[in-house]
Amino acid sequence: FSQNPYDLWLQYDKIEEQNVLNSYKNTISNVFLDLNSPTGTVIEEEIKKSFKGLLDIEPKFDAKTPNLIITTLDKLDPSIKQKLPEISKINDEGYLIQHIPEKKNSKIIISAKTEKGLLYGVFNFIKQIQLRNDLSEIAIYDSPKIQKRLLNHWDNLDRSVERGYAGFSIWDWYLLPELIKQEYIDYARANASIGINGTVLTNVNSNALVLSPRYIQKLKALADVFRPYGIQVYLTARFSAPIETDDLETADPLNADVRQWWKNKAKEIYAEIPDFGGFLVKANSEGQPGPNNYGRSHVDGANMLAEAVAPYDGIIMWRAFVYSEEKPEDRAKQAYSEFKPFDGKFKDNVLVQVKNGAIDFQPREPFHPLFGAMPNTPLMMEFQITQEYLGGMSHLVFLPQLFEEVLEEDTYTQGKGSTVAKIIDGQLSTKKLTGMAGVANIGTAKNWTGHPFGQANWYGFGRLAWDPETSAETIAKDWLKMTFTNNSNFVDPMTKLLLESREAVVNYMTPLGLHHIMAAGHHQGPGPWVKDMPRPDWTSVYYHKADANGIGFDRTSSGSNALAQYAPEIQKKYSDPATTPDKYLLWFHHLPWDYKMKSGETLWYEIAAHYQKGVEQVEDMQKTWQKMQEYVNPQVFEKTNMLLNIQLKEAKQWRNACLLYFQQFSNMDFPDFIPEMT
Ligand code: GCU
Repeated sequence: FSQNPYDLWLQYDKIEEQNVLNSYKNTISNVFLDLNSPTGTVIEEEIKKSFKGLLDIEPKFDAKTPNLIITTLDKLDPSIKQKLPEISKINDEGYLIQHIPEKKNSKIIISAKTEKGLLYGVFNFIKQIQLRNDLSEIAIYDSPKIQKRLLNHWDNLDRSVERGYAGFSIWDWYLLPELIKQEYIDYARANASIGINGTVLTNVNSNALVLSPRYIQKLKALADVFRPYGIQVYLTARFSAPIETDDLETADPLNADVRQWWKNKAKEIYAEIPDFGGFLVKANSEGQPGPNNYGRSHVDGANMLAEAVAPYDGIIMWRAFVYSEEKPEDRAKQAYSEFKPFDGKFKDNVLVQVKNGAIDFQPREPFHPLFGAMPNTPLMMEFQITQEYLGGMSHLVFLPQLFEEVLEEDTYTQGKGSTVAKIIDGQLSTKKLTGMAGVANIGTAKNWTGHPFGQANWYGFGRLAWDPETSAETIAKDWLKMTFTNNSNFVDPMTKLLLESREAVVNYMTPLGLHHIMAAGHHQGPGPWVKDMPRPDWTSVYYHKADANGIGFDRTSSGSNALAQYAPEIQKKYSDPATTPDKYLLWFHHLPWDYKMKSGETLWYEIAAHYQKGVEQVEDMQKTWQKMQEYVNPQVFEKTNMLLNIQLKEAKQWRNACLLYFQQFSNMDFPDFIPEMT
């Protein structure tokens, strides 16, 4: 095996099936490529590399009758253009791959309006070969549905990574700008291959130092590496930077000197990096400074920064992750309460970045009620790829399943079918700026993500940012084939494993709508007993509310009424436990332990059954994996094996800890299927 984990899903191992190999060789070995630019060089290198690997040939670039033509649309012969039926459908980042049959000289055209589009097209073309797809009738017309497809690195300047489980930050600030690590190039290439077009390099809990001239030089070096791959760099902006890095006495967004300071800062950055993307801001959240410190609003803060970057087409991503310990209101309600009144008040280059759920990247949460509630504001989705609450470094969890579930949810805000995906991609918004962010799971680990299957979550995020309606199953299959092998004896059972892995983690951590019952601080492992914390909304008891009467958070009108933040259709359905989907039951209701579930069993029984099922699902994952040895690089096989052992141990810990803890309140016996706990 080669299957070098460093190469991620871009495995170009030689095709073994002779007939398949020959057919590709005959169809595409004479390449026409006429791009004279850094992106053109990247494309040429990728073609060479993939042909050498997959087909074991050097492509011919000077043949008289090429059978693979790679060029931008403006350079295509009108006679060829006529044969491209859906050419008008592609946008500036889109591309087409079209087979044109001819008696003597059939050919495949890869074309796009821009070279960036062409790069995406080339990666998809190579993917077709990795997937062993037939090229003889290929006709792909594809464009991203979302404009800003960004990774968010929670990387600190000292190279620690907040909630990172894959080593240190890959940004070697100390040695930049002089030292350009190969990893920077490979990182850009991997991201380009899945359509990611931007990266926020620094933590949302930000350090103002990164805005200083010395760091701007370092940033410029990275931007120069990423540019040919179509990737823009962004930074997090610390709101108090004018005070911390300069001698201003205030950071009040309405103060003229402060406004000028940010304008000057933008000018300084753009002078070095003309395509700098803009700023991501966490303000007045978890102790971060912000406009509220000066009696100003989020709109004042965001618009001030927006004004500073607007002349350069920069954007501001202003996070809606706010909740205050001073407010007695249910934490799940606070972002909506605070942001909804601002709808339509932000400048055009501001996106409000909203986490997928109203609490915090739980194994399962209902979609955030802000989606659909601010039709006149571009809302950017924030997913977390790193597994802060989902087993960190050791659990195999295929997150595209979670992402898909959120994106498919119907908000009903503009009638039936108003899915979160349609809000994110701008279809249901009056504003056309669109974006999706994923908190990266990347570090200095030799395989980038630590857990070998963490790669699938990076890959899957990219696919969904490109098209939020892509199915998790397609993503799973493509990733497995591109990373390991096309053999269906591997792909089929492993697809099943991936697609079940997310439900497994929900079952053994937080079934039936339970949430935020992890250990304090690091959020790894169970901690339903956590109650003494600096803030009540950082405890577990705040969320599960278990007592002798029952368990769960009443968010209906008899409780916090967070439910009122959703559309009437959802309110109606979820206000009654009998019609609330089991998966959200204890998110919205506080129910007695002997509450009769849809299954006919008691709530207590179902809680126990779900914890037990989660453990058994991990056992099943182990059994499946055991059968995969012959298809997988031995190191990856062993590592995954050992990680699954840890996952099983921890799943049992979760089951035992939660059931023993909750039993104090339920005072009910465990069902027979729960093994004796010691
Ligand atoms: C969570 C996480 C923090 C992070 C925060 C955020 O609370 O635990 O580490 O800073 O989210 O998204 O801002």
